[in-house]
Amino acid sequence: MRCLVVYSSKTGNTRAVAQAIHAIMPAGTALLPVQEAPAPHGYDLLCLGFWVTLGGPDPAMLAYMRRIEACTVGLFGTLGAYTDSPHADKVRQRALEAVAPHPTLGVFLCQGKIDPAHLARQAARPKEQQRHPMTEERRERIAVAATHPDAQDFAAAQAFFKEMLAKC
Ligand SMILES: Cc1cc2nc3c(=O)[nH]c(=O)nc-3n(C[C@H](O)[C@H](O)[C@H](O)COP(=O)(O)O)c2cc1C
Repeated sequence: MRCLVVYSSKTGNTRAVAQAIHAIMPAGTALLPVQEAPAPHGYDLLCLGFWVTLGGPDPAMLAYMRRIEACTVGLFGTLGAYTDSPHADKVRQRALEAVAPHPTLGVFLCQGKIDPAHLARQAARPKEQQRHPMTEERRERIAVAATHPDAQDFAAAQAFFKEMLAKC
């Protein structure tokens, strides 16, 4: 079976999940950052990983997704929000829309620590210009995200993609 794992990652969270998924892929499966990935066609399973920005997959992965030709796709992503939040549901929906009409076997999401430089830039803005003002709930969510991806996330991602392989 021809499989390929491609990821886009700014600070390493999605790359770490991609590495975990790659470890359970059939021998000979390549793992590549999106900037070095081959054209997305001719694979039985294309595993695509993105980091979340503006409530959806990042622009580099979106551009790659637009190039897909006739492949079955498995998606994974990392985000700051909780995976059981309405925000995460929107991310899943946007990711599925981005690869449509190609068949998709699922979207795996886990939290990923948020770049402290990004948080510092946001905090430095005047309060009235902050898209996400700091609240107790947000502070806690950022602290929880800072512990991810963890060993459980890697194991969950592997289980998710093992099921995908079984369906292929
Ligand atoms: C510029 C920027 C925008 C972000 N936007 C979102 C967002 O809209 N929703 C969200 O849940 N997380 C958001 N995050 C958090 C990242 O998606 C999360 O930290 C992710 O794990 C980063 O993955 P990476 O380490 O592979 O780059 C944002 C982070 C940055 C730096």
